[in-house]
Amino acid sequence: MRGVQTGKFPEYRPRRLRGSAALRALVRETDLNARQLILPLFARGGKKVRQPISSMPGCFQLSVDELVKECELAHGDGVSAVLLFGIPEAKDEKASGAYATNGIVQRAVRALKKEFPDLLVVTDVCLCEYMSHGHCGLVHKNSRGAEIKNDPTLKLLARAAASHAEAGADLVAPSDMMDGRVRAIREELDRRGFDQTPIMSYAVKFASAFYGPFREAAESAPKFGDRRSYQMDAANGNEALREAALDVAEGADILMVKPALSYLDLIYRVKTEFRYPTAAYAVSAEYSMIKAGAEKGWIDEKAIVMESHLAMRRAGADIIITYWAREIARWLKP
Ligand code: PBG
Repeated sequence: MRGVQTGKFPEYRPRRLRGSAALRALVRETDLNARQLILPLFARGGKKVRQPISSMPGCFQLSVDELVKECELAHGDGVSAVLLFGIPEAKDEKASGAYATNGIVQRAVRALKKEFPDLLVVTDVCLCEYMSHGHCGLVHKNSRGAEIKNDPTLKLLARAAASHAEAGADLVAPSDMMDGRVRAIREELDRRGFDQTPIMSYAVKFASAFYGPFREAAESAPKFGDRRSYQMDAANGNEALREAALDVAEGADILMVKPALSYLDLIYRVKTEFRYPTAAYAVSAEYSMIKAGAEKGWIDEKAIVMESHLAMRRAGADIIITYWAREIARWLKP
């Protein structure tokens, strides 16, 4: 190979490849494909309920019958995986709805797997939607105020994950950020005969204002305090790698970084450091911001969505969890 010459008339000048669309396609490094997408959906009780989520236009809380219809449409668009969240009828201080055999997510999983055996059904494993106080773990009040009790929470998370697997979930995704939960879940799944059910861990999950609209969607805003004692500080990148290393050691199969766009550096670092299947979650406010800008006519929704999701892929995401999964899958069709 000829070296780059620095003389007055360089013999070879490195340059970007330009040219026809075919040439650009030939040298394209990354792409988006519908098979990489997971669509998050919110399940709730009742029948024929399609309750719009005002801060997330185009997203709904769906009763199980409507959820089935939505998945049929999504499947038709080319989406092959969904991530389920549940909005229970009642909440309490031990998140009973999270691990009830007849809980909302468990019912939804059974209905979906019955209708669409090939659809990959992923479940979010967390307690906040089921807790009266809205925190992701058990709360203990003492003279210092309220504290989240890490270790006693692990048992409940493990029970929730196993109840999802029992209902037929293909993949469980713990999002609570308690320490030790991946191991607790792995052990419980194995003990109950679900050793083939993998874990996608929300390994790197920041305490983020970008979850705001989701908390309206899932009715899970904390009633007091915030989630900073268990979710990560946006300032810390190295700590994120240590968190991911713990989850790998505990048996995670897929590592997730969340949110996505403000943390592309961490998608890259997690992917290059561990070489595990890596997921990025384009969270609720990332969705709402672009929707709002597009509604005002200020930005081109499709172009911005495709560019930003491609950026997540370029950063190293193998999998993207996105509220646009259906639209992207449709836009990608020839
Ligand atoms: C539950 C959970 C949250 C999200 C996913 N799982 C909210 C939170 O941690 O407060 C956020 C998803 C989104 O914003 O789209 N713990």
